[in-house]
Amino acid sequence: MKLLFYLSGENPDLARLEALRLAESYGRVRELGQDDRILILDYDGSEFFDRLAYTNEVVQLYHICSPDELEVVFKDLPVLEGKCCVRVKGDADRTKLERELGSVLWRRGAKISVSEPDVVYRVYIGKNACYVGIIKHVRDKKQFYLRRPDRRPFLMPSAIKPKLARGLVNLTGVREGEAFLDPMCGTGSFLIEAGLMGIYPVGIEFFEKIARGCRTNLNHYGIKGEVINGDARNMPIKDSSISGIATDYPYLRSTKAAGTIEELYMKSSEEMERVLKDGRYAAVVTNIDVEKYFGNFKIVFKFEERVHGSLTRKIYLMQSK
Ligand SMILES: C[S@@+](CC[C@H](N)C(=O)[O-])C[C@H]1O[C@@H](n2cnc3c(N)ncnc32)[C@H](O)[C@@H]1O
Repeated sequence: MKLLFYLSGENPDLARLEALRLAESYGRVRELGQDDRILILDYDGSEFFDRLAYTNEVVQLYHICSPDELEVVFKDLPVLEGKCCVRVKGDADRTKLERELGSVLWRRGAKISVSEPDVVYRVYIGKNACYVGIIKHVRDKKQFYLRRPDRRPFLMPSAIKPKLARGLVNLTGVREGEAFLDPMCGTGSFLIEAGLMGIYPVGIEFFEKIARGCRTNLNHYGIKGEVINGDARNMPIKDSSISGIATDYPYLRSTKAAGTIEELYMKSSEEMERVLKDGRYAAVVTNIDVEKYFGNFKIVFKFEERVHGSLTRKIYLMQSK
């Protein structure tokens, strides 16, 4: 089946990789092309769309055509059961086009409802072509706002935002029922997103008070998992027992919890390699270049994101060799 992913404009590289990694994890996928924020995949597998943080819509793609071919294309689209409407994105005269294409469907016997459609025919006017299909999934835009860190019972200013946390858990490709680890879990942003997706979250946190707060946060969302008061440099976790890791390193040069930052990176990367199953992925957020500490992993992707004047966040996706 050909699927179109309409990627969030916030971080299109991360959005593309998130969709690809989940598709690889749930089925077989071939990337067919990209037109700005439109990613097209040939996909055979089960649905994972409600996991996506950085895709606004998923559409079953029927045709790619030029603007003057749209009417002909609409004469050929399947007319599905229920009430339908046409929605166009990316054209100045959107409403006129929606009306014209809707009337093609109406003449073919479709029932039209603009306010309460069961089926939405989607047209994207891209940079290179028009893309026509039927919407399969729309992202719930409110969810991340509702889960923002200051709504949790336990809060720390360093907490990572839920949308990024979910995106990074998804980059690892970890699936429902598998064990996911954050070796420096803080308030539990990664663990919460993993838990809400049906994944079994395991967190390690050096400070007992923070570990306790993190457990309170997991309980708040009704998530079953483990938060261990321990050290990322020497984890009480069995070899090859973890299916995905995502973590956010402390940004300080030296702390009581980490010893020197070099030691923290060196020892935690060895530990991550030990506990992660072969071929599985770790997503790492940091403020420094960490290639030299992760020679034991294959670096699949590196993103840079400017957070503010003095902080550029670096995000790595690494695969266990
Ligand atoms: C940047 S914060 C993580 C924030 C977290 N992602 C969240 O959203 O709340 C880093 C965390 O790592 C913990 N930490 C530092 N050194 C550690 C170590 N050696 N082992 C385990 N945790 C450690 C810190 O106490 C802090 O809570």
